[in-house]
Amino acid sequence: MGKRATIFLNFLSLMEICLAASPDLNSSTDEHSLLAIKSHIITSYPNNILATNWSQGTSFCTWIGVTCSRRRPRVTALNLFNMSLEGTIAKEIGNLSFLTYLNIRNNSFNGLIPDEIGNLRRLRVLEISYNQLIGEIPLSFGHLIKLGRLSIQGNHLTGAIPQSIFNISSLQILALTYNQLSGTLPNDMCYHLSKLEGLHLSQNQLSGNIPTSLSACSRLKIISLSYNNFIGPIPMQIGNLSQLQQLVLGINKITSKYLDII
Ligand SMILES: *[C@@H]1O[C@H](CO)[C@@H](O)[C@H](O)[C@H]1NC(C)=O
Ligand SMILES: *[C@@H]1O[C@H](CO)[C@@H](O)[C@H](O)[C@H]1NC(C)=O
Ligand SMILES: *[C@@H]1O[C@H](CO)[C@@H](O)[C@H](O)[C@H]1NC(C)=O
Ligand SMILES: *[C@@H]1O[C@H](CO)[C@@H](O)[C@H](O)[C@H]1NC(C)=O
Ligand SMILES: *[C@@H]1O[C@H](CO)[C@@H](O)[C@H](O)[C@H]1NC(C)=O
Ligand SMILES: *[C@@H]1O[C@H](CO)[C@@H](O)[C@H](O)[C@H]1NC(C)=O
Ligand SMILES: *[C@@H]1O[C@H](CO)[C@@H](O)[C@H](O)[C@H]1NC(C)=O
Repeated sequence: MGKRATIFLNFLSLMEICLAASPDLNSSTDEHSLLAIKSHIITSYPNNILATNWSQGTSFCTWIGVTCSRRRPRVTALNLFNMSLEGTIAKEIGNLSFLTYLNIRNNSFNGLIPDEIGNLRRLRVLEISYNQLIGEIPLSFGHLIKLGRLSIQGNHLTGAIPQSIFNISSLQILALTYNQLSGTLPNDMCYHLSKLEGLHLSQNQLSGNIPTSLSACSRLKIISLSYNNFIGPIPMQIGNLSQLQQLVLGINKITSKYLDII
């Protein structure tokens, strides 16, 4: 390893230590963040589980849906899947700096997705599908460089998919079906996505050509682009995707010139 690389790695470790020991982001910040999240939630059901369970008299590491690190009382996972929660996502969620897993799938969260989620640099899974979120996908998501799964299906998202998403080289699943996303896919979208296995973009308003660079996403198993406004030919390079199991392209304006190669 070169000297420069070693110095850089030392610098990174130092950053880790600084982040862990940071005086303004500590375990009481985590508790504060969770209480902020709770305060933005109103449930339509009488037995609001968080109201009783997320009680300040008890350690937040014992709260339902919360998992802490084994080494220190810092939140590493937050799983609020299918809890009939209604409300907005508090921006303080971006202060849970040790979070690697965030799942709020199948609730009734509405409003915008906070930009602050882009501060969660350790995040590997971001699963916020099947809510009523509006607005655009935050550009800040491009900072989530460890993300393996980004799933925001079944919301009311508009605007284009930020280009920064296509720079997350750890990404394995990108699932954005059932929204109102528009715009085109950049032709070089796969240049940094060599680990991508699932590209789920059906049921949006995406347009333009299907990128020829899809073949650079060489591990793709599933490509689902149906119910959009894509035009033009199916790139013949798709025929090079040796792992491909599903190619779903129905209901677009695609010409079938190359269909025989797949
Ligand atoms: C944690 O951070 C808060 C907010 O910056 C600060 O007030 C508090 O003193 C810190 N607690 C510890 C134990 O470091
Ligand atoms: C909250 O729920 C967890 C998991 O079900 C349980 O272990 C814990 O005792 C509960 N805490 C309170 C205060 O109800
Ligand atoms: C989600 O919760 C509903 C009840 O609110 C239940 O019927 C359903 O089975 C749950 N789904 C899962 C996957 O746990
Ligand atoms: C947490 O997040 C909020 C909103 O993003 C911010 O105002 C606050 O300063 C952050 N830090 C702490 C220690 O709570
Ligand atoms: C999603 O939540 C609704 C309402 O609580 C429930 O009826 C449904 O079964 C849930 N779906 C899944 C896949 O868990
Ligand atoms: C993606 O990464 C490349 C180089 O790694 C950089 O030049 C480009 O600006 C990045 N694009 C976005 C939208 O972040
Ligand atoms: C597809 O694969 C063939 C051989 O397997 C290779 O010759 C060709 O250059 C590849 N095309 C693309 C666009 O990757």
